[in-house]
Amino acid sequence: MISIDWELLHQEAKTIMARSYSPYSKFPVGVAALVTDGRIVTGTNVENASYGLGLCAECGLVSNLIASGGGRLVAAVCVDSNGAFLSPCGRCRQLLFEHGGNDLLFMTPDGPLPMSNLLPWAFGPEDLGITP
Ligand code: THU
Repeated sequence: MISIDWELLHQEAKTIMARSYSPYSKFPVGVAALVTDGRIVTGTNVENASYGLGLCAECGLVSNLIASGGGRLVAAVCVDSNGAFLSPCGRCRQLLFEHGGNDLLFMTPDGPLPMSNLLPWAFGPEDLGITP
């Protein structure tokens, strides 16, 4: 069982949050996640003048996960500009579920919670007969 350094994940999420491109919402977000092989992948939100095209921090994280070799997500921390734990939006829960499944742990103000709590009875690859 891989050990989770929550403090390090929190720090990495804050570091990437500071690189956010969010001139429209002025709501920087950072997310960091531990991968099964021990890597840490991160992402930050990237907005656009065409507002609806903005990318959530979790989109960047998933992109970085795949681009850096893939693997399964084990634990994640998402933060706002104060470094406070942020709840991922619904779309991002689905994005993360694809790469971490029900057991992916998410840090909340009440401690870590599994994805199965954040996105109960999720639709996923297995519903399409695919084992990720
Ligand atoms: N945002 C994220 O990056 N992730 C979330 O899970 C929630 C929302 C971003 C999108 C937008 O750039 C800003 O936060 C305000 O909604």
